[in-house]
Amino acid sequence: MTRILITSALPYINGVKHLGNLAGSLLPADIHARYHRQAGHETLFLCGTDEHGTPAELAAAEAGVSVPDYCATHHAIQADIYRRFAISFDHFSRSSGAANHALTQELFERLDAAGFIEERTIRQAWSATDARFLPDRYVLGTCPYCGDAGARGDQCEACARLLDPDQLVAPRSAISGARDISFRDSRHLFLKLAALAPRLRQWIEAQAQWPALVRGIALKWLDEGLRDRCITRDLAWGVPVPRPGFEGKVFYVWFDAPIGYIAAAIEWAARSPQRDWRDWWQGGDAVRLVQFLGKDNVPFHTVSFPATLLGSGLPFKLPDLIKGFNWLSYEGGKFSTSRKRGIFTDAALQELPADYWRWWLAANAPETSDTDFTVARFADGVNKDLADIFGNLVNRCLAFVAARFDGVVPADGAPGVAESVLAATLTQRLAALRSAHDAAEIRKAAAEARAIWSLANAYLAEQAPWTHFRGNPERAAVALRTGVNLVRLSAIVAWPFIPGSAARVLAALGEPDGIPPFPDACTALTAIAGGRTVAVPPLLFAKIGTEDAARIRARHGGL
Ligand code: 2FM
Ligand code: ZN
Repeated sequence: MTRILITSALPYINGVKHLGNLAGSLLPADIHARYHRQAGHETLFLCGTDEHGTPAELAAAEAGVSVPDYCATHHAIQADIYRRFAISFDHFSRSSGAANHALTQELFERLDAAGFIEERTIRQAWSATDARFLPDRYVLGTCPYCGDAGARGDQCEACARLLDPDQLVAPRSAISGARDISFRDSRHLFLKLAALAPRLRQWIEAQAQWPALVRGIALKWLDEGLRDRCITRDLAWGVPVPRPGFEGKVFYVWFDAPIGYIAAAIEWAARSPQRDWRDWWQGGDAVRLVQFLGKDNVPFHTVSFPATLLGSGLPFKLPDLIKGFNWLSYEGGKFSTSRKRGIFTDAALQELPADYWRWWLAANAPETSDTDFTVARFADGVNKDLADIFGNLVNRCLAFVAARFDGVVPADGAPGVAESVLAATLTQRLAALRSAHDAAEIRKAAAEARAIWSLANAYLAEQAPWTHFRGNPERAAVALRTGVNLVRLSAIVAWPFIPGSAARVLAALGEPDGIPPFPDACTALTAIAGGRTVAVPPLLFAKIGTEDAARIRARHGGL
């Protein structure tokens, strides 16, 4: 299998995302994509903004602009932030684009023709003041069970009971506060998930390699019995439902958003006659599809989206790996957009360069459990791993070449026992790094990369070319030349995680621009031969001091 198709959950359009969104899908997907490109695999990494649904409508209303204008502006804002984080999408699409509209309608029609769609009448809250139907969670009122006055039409947070909006006492609109709520019948379309349950179960049970988190959530949904899901809404903004009598209704955002992954490939392919989106989404076993997402998205990716694909009757690929992530919390509590608690992606880049955040969030990815981001832990991790281990390795070695050899890598001497031992250890380390990346185990891959940096530091500390410089110049030359090659190797394995800093090191070494191929242990120690002129890159990482950390925390609502 040489084609790797990677998706990251489409971030909602309404507002700049926080570090948790970066850590739980965009960043790991980017690291995985970068690794596969290094490994020489044909890779397609897709994402986009998730632009439909009530939150987009409400955010536009609050901003006082039309929904299309709001979405266009915020798509550009998010795209720019991800570009500055060096997220290497092959295409960053928009779920409101024409390709997604057309494909969503086509898949619906195929599902309908195959008998997986059913029309039903449901009772919907209607707000006369707002002149619109209200989605369940936009109806507020008093909980019939515990009497809490702030219950939502889908759930009471005070007593955790699931509710229907017509159970609320004294219902009111979350949009206007109006109390003139009535309940009206409305025709809607349901996707018959129950009919697809046996095929879904068979598929999910065969996925032994999925993370336990993902399998657990998916099987729990199946075990509880799949309920048919309403895939239409009484809203104006979204993909129109192509069916007589459904004028003015649109598809539910979670029906069209994952189809947006495929639409992104269609848009990407349309840019060149060489490309065919079907080679990817309908490429069978020749393609490996890996999807990155937060745990709240697991049901949609393991059950409802696969149901759409299976039920369509088209030869779509189902994901080979669904890589679900746990939550990133902030200083012991939740990130909160409304309370401005936590570090948001735009603000993070005003504090420090992307690579600082990328490294820590990868090395501490919320993979097997939730991870608490604290500014103190972040500063500690960055200072140790990036400044002390990686930065110090690069600086110490290249500054010595500059000071003692005029920046020219010494050519004398031949590798000895120490270098053979090193090569053997590196063979094992690189194999471990490769298998962590192949399994999309991000923390482990980061730890393996760091282990290679440490190995390089240990080699230089033991071989100490600075000590042998006078007494045994040939040994010093071999150790330093090997050291320069270890710097190169360290930068190459760092590249998926901290691409900007890695590229600066590789440029200082006179390496070609672009994607540095995944290293081979046999050649890694001799790739840079004696005689090459190398430079010392400008300071790679400044340490984050205690006071800097306190300031960062204070600016972002830390306790
Ligand atoms: O949870 C979210 O941020 C959603 N916008 C993810 C959508 S993923 C996909 F299926 F489009
Ligand atoms: Zn309650």
